[in-house]
Amino acid sequence: MIVLGIESSCDETTAALVKDGQTILSSVVASQISIHADFGGVVPELASREHVENICFVTEQCLKEASLTWTQVEALAVTQGPGLMGALLVGLTYAKGLAYALKIPFVGINHLEGHICSIFLDHPEAELPALSLVVSGGHTSLFYLKELGDYQELSRTRDDAAGEALDKLSKYLGLGYPGGPVIDRLAPQGDPKAVPFSIPKISDGSLDFSFSGIKTAALRYMTEHNISRLDREASDPLQDIPQEILDLLASYQSSIIDQLLHRLKQSLKGREVRSIQISGGVSCNSELRRRATDTFQQQDLAVYYPRSELTTDNAAMIAAAARLRPGASDPWSLIADPNLALSATRSAQKMEKRK
Ligand code: KG4
Ligand code: ZN
Repeated sequence: MIVLGIESSCDETTAALVKDGQTILSSVVASQISIHADFGGVVPELASREHVENICFVTEQCLKEASLTWTQVEALAVTQGPGLMGALLVGLTYAKGLAYALKIPFVGINHLEGHICSIFLDHPEAELPALSLVVSGGHTSLFYLKELGDYQELSRTRDDAAGEALDKLSKYLGLGYPGGPVIDRLAPQGDPKAVPFSIPKISDGSLDFSFSGIKTAALRYMTEHNISRLDREASDPLQDIPQEILDLLASYQSSIIDQLLHRLKQSLKGREVRSIQISGGVSCNSELRRRATDTFQQQDLAVYYPRSELTTDNAAMIAAAARLRPGASDPWSLIADPNLALSATRSAQKMEKRK
């Protein structure tokens, strides 16, 4: 079965062809980073317009790279939500049009389910039940994954996502967008213990995440230590960064990782868990990978991540997730849902099966 995946929930216009839910035949990503960089974050209206500009080219390029023709595509999988409304609408409407023209089924996929499935593209051996952490610029959610398709959300962020917190500090310091990869590169030059950030405790005892406090604490630290936004014209703007900024970045990144690992460790208690799975843009972070692997190795638990190009948004993960709904076909009336919950998708599918 050859599935064409389309993903346009945020700032990447992407298409991919995946065979039997496992083999990536081609994957094309048109990134909008340079367009949003001046603003230090994604501008929704600009993102939608760029998706409209790019989606036909990206999809055609995807077929070309796989040396396939339209008639060989057997089904379409497209991100239904969560994400930016205008951005989602472009992908969903385009996918419906294609499915209608090609007379093939289309299915709406939850973006978070896509990230979770990205792990299985390279690691079909990853054992379940698992703790599956999706950590990106828009999401920080932890699921108990009994089997693929059965997701119990254990915790989620109450405010910012981890990637958003990294992007914001980079913006405050004038280090560019997206901030995650910049901080990943600079943090090894700083002292992770220099600035004492703490892990937030939620008063009701829940294991939800929270990253807005650390953002405020970093801003306060900048004010107290007279650290202002760097204004850099240098050819490599990441050279010669003052040591106190490197220390701040290292401590900030380290504290975000502390919180992610703390919630994972606490969530292990009383549950049968055979592997830890971490996906989404932030799962590319080298310090997070090193520390998570070390931490859970001590408990004989393997930690799985997607290969780096599958950590950030891509359509291969969306096409791969479609294998969980064999033979399914969504109605033309399917609507984009910026707040689509993963559990809601699942129960809708159970209802569909019952019919
Ligand atoms: O999964 P993704 O493309 O989009 C969402 O679904 O949100 O993730 C983008 C996020 C951005 O916040 C970016 O700063 C972060 O992933 N990111 C990283 C790294 N590479 C991307 N964060 C930390 N370290 C990295 N190496
Ligand atoms: Zn994502």
